[in-house]
Amino acid sequence: MRRTLSRYLIEEQREKGKINADLRLLIEVVARACKSIAVAIGKGGLGGVLGEAGSDNVQGEAQKKLDVISNEIFLEANEWGGHLAGMASEEMELPHAIPNRYPQGEYLLLFDPLDGSSNIDINVSVGTIFSVLRCPEGADPTTDTAFLQPGTKQVAAGYAVYGPTTLLVLTVGDGVACFTLDREQGSFVLTQENMQIPEDTKEFAINMSNLRHWEAPVRRYVEELLAGKEGPRGKDFNMRWVASMVADVHRIMTRGGIFMYPLDAKIRDKGGKLRLMYEANPMSFIVEQAGGAATTGRQRILDVPPTGLHMRVPVILGSKNEVERVAAYHQD
Ligand code: AHG
Ligand code: MN
Ligand code: MN
Repeated sequence: MRRTLSRYLIEEQREKGKINADLRLLIEVVARACKSIAVAIGKGGLGGVLGEAGSDNVQGEAQKKLDVISNEIFLEANEWGGHLAGMASEEMELPHAIPNRYPQGEYLLLFDPLDGSSNIDINVSVGTIFSVLRCPEGADPTTDTAFLQPGTKQVAAGYAVYGPTTLLVLTVGDGVACFTLDREQGSFVLTQENMQIPEDTKEFAINMSNLRHWEAPVRRYVEELLAGKEGPRGKDFNMRWVASMVADVHRIMTRGGIFMYPLDAKIRDKGGKLRLMYEANPMSFIVEQAGGAATTGRQRILDVPPTGLHMRVPVILGSKNEVERVAAYHQD
C-alpha cells in the first residue's frame, strides 16, 4: 500500500500522538513549498532561473536567482496558514514577521531555502533544509531571541533533495522517513522508513582544498584515512564531495560515511562555514535520529547554545564510530 506524506503525518498525529494538527499542517505546507521549488529548479535554462540575482545576502554571499526565488516560495507558502509565529532564513538578516492580517501559530520555522548554490548552474543536486522550533511563551517572534534555542529543542527537521528524483527526508523525533515525489500524482510517497546510518564506513566527505588550513585533529584524522590499508586504520577509504550539504548528507543517510566542514584558519573568525540554526542543527537532528552522531569536534552540535541567527559552527557528522573518533582526536 502506498503511504503518502499526508497519511504518514496523520498516523504520527492520531496513532502515535507525536505531532499535533498544527505541526502536521506546517510540514504539509513545507512539503508543498519544496514541490514548488523543485518545479522552478526543473525549468533551468528554459525558465530564466539560472545565474546571479545581482544581490548579496546577510552573510555577504552573492545570491543566485534561485536562492531568492526559493526564499520567496517558502515565505509565501508559510505565511497565511496560521501555524507559524515567525520565520527565519539564510537569505534574510532578520526574522520574517507573520503579517497581522493572518492568525499566528505557536511554531517557528527556520530554513536554508536553497542549499548547494554553487551547483545550481551546473545541473547538480541542490536542496532545502528546514528546522521547526516552538516559540517560547511570551517571546517576540520578530526578534532573534525567540529563535535562539539549542538544537535539542527542535520538534521537527527535514531536507529536500532536488536530484534525479525529488526527495523529502523528515524527522518529527520518531526516527527518520524518506519520501519520494511522485511527479505524476504530485504527492510525496513514503519510500523508506526508519533510516539507519551504518556505524562504520569507508567513505569520507570533506573539501580537501582546505587541508593546509585545518586544525591538527582533523588533519591527523584525514591523513590516517588517506594512508589506507598500510596506515593505522588498516583499510582503504574512498572520498566523495558533492558540495551540496543535502546531497552529501543524503548519501550518508543512505549508505553511511562521514561529512566534515571543520574549522580552518581561513574561516576561524567566522566560527565555521555552515550555519547552526538552519543547516547544522536540522541535519544533526536527522542524523542522530538515524543512529549517527554530529559534533563540532568539541561539543555535540545539538547542545551548542546559539548566539546569533546566522551563527556558524564546525560540522562533523555521520557514521557514529568515525564521528566519535574525530571528537576523541580533538580531546587529545
Ligand atoms: P549554501 O549554498 O546554502 O550557501 O550552502 C553551501 C554549503 C554546503 O551546502 C556545502 O556543503 C558547502 O557550502 C560547500 O562548500 P565549499 O564550496 O567550500 O566546498
Ligand atoms: Mn546551505
Ligand atoms: Mn542556501
